[in-house]
Amino acid sequence: MLILTIESTCDETAAAVVSDALEVRSSVVASQERLHERYGGVVPEIASRAHVERILPVIDEALAKAGVTLADLDAVAVANRPGLGGSLLVGLMAAKALALACDLPLVAIDHLQAHIYACRLAAGRDVFPCVGLIVSGGHSNLYRCESPLDFTPLGGTIDDAAGEAFDKVASMLGLGFPGGPAIQQAAERGDPRRFKLPRPLLDDPSRLDFSFSGLKTAVRYQLFGAGRPEMDARALEPQVVADMAAGVQAAIIDCLAAKAVLALKRTDYRRLCVGGGVAANKPFRERLERLAAEHEFELQVPPLSLCTDNAVMGAIAVERIKAGLFEELDLDISAGLERPTLAR
Ligand code: KG4
Ligand code: ZN
Repeated sequence: MLILTIESTCDETAAAVVSDALEVRSSVVASQERLHERYGGVVPEIASRAHVERILPVIDEALAKAGVTLADLDAVAVANRPGLGGSLLVGLMAAKALALACDLPLVAIDHLQAHIYACRLAAGRDVFPCVGLIVSGGHSNLYRCESPLDFTPLGGTIDDAAGEAFDKVASMLGLGFPGGPAIQQAAERGDPRRFKLPRPLLDDPSRLDFSFSGLKTAVRYQLFGAGRPEMDARALEPQVVADMAAGVQAAIIDCLAAKAVLALKRTDYRRLCVGGGVAANKPFRERLERLAAEHEFELQVPPLSLCTDNAVMGAIAVERIKAGLFEELDLDISAGLERPTLAR
């Protein structure tokens, strides 16, 4: 059985062909980084327009690379939640059109479940049950994952996502977009102790939530002073940029790592699966590896190409197909995330 998977939740237009045995026949990702760079973040309107231009060529390329045609497909799957409304719609419309025209079953993909499923694909074996930590540009969430399709929220960010914090701080430091890789690189030459930065909720063992917006404000005040100063990154000394990058990276990693360990203790699960673009961060991965050895849990973090948005992780559609979960052509998008029940 061959499934075409489509991903357009944010600023990556992606398609893949996967089999029901979870073999990846092809994977194509068209990144929009260049388009959003000058704005220091993803501009939703630009993202959806770019998806419209790219979606068909990307699907064509995925089919060609897999050496198949539409006639060889058995199903079409699409990430329809959560994400940017306009971006989600483009992928969904493409998937519905193909389902209708080629008489294919339509399968819905939850983008966050897909990020954790990337760990299943990378491991090559079952990774459930586990604690799932999703850290991306739009999400910082912890879940109790009993199975690929059964997630219970344990906590999440009460304001900005971790990736968003990386991106916004990188923009203040004049490091460009996306901010995560730029901060990681600048931090290599920096002293993480030079600036005193907050780690909100870190010392509250009753909560599995994150808060990163105060970090952003603290960075701004320490770099440019209080009030409404002009934030000119060009005036910053290179060492200040490096030290601040190192400090921010350390603060974000401290919060994510501590709550992940707390979630494992709470659930009594012995496995942590991490997904989303921020999971590409090298010092974060290294910290998690040390914690896994220290606290004796199994750690699953996918390779970098499966951390950032891609359509391969849409292979989670296989689980839905096995469970008989198909959609009608009136399937809609669901842009928002149900606010995690801030579990105590
Ligand atoms: O999962 P993703 O590709 O898209 C969303 O669903 O949001 O995540 C993108 C986010 C961006 O905020 C980017 O700055 C961050 O992942 N990111 C990183 C690294 N690579 C990407 N953050 C920290 N360190 C990295 N190496
Ligand atoms: Zn994502």
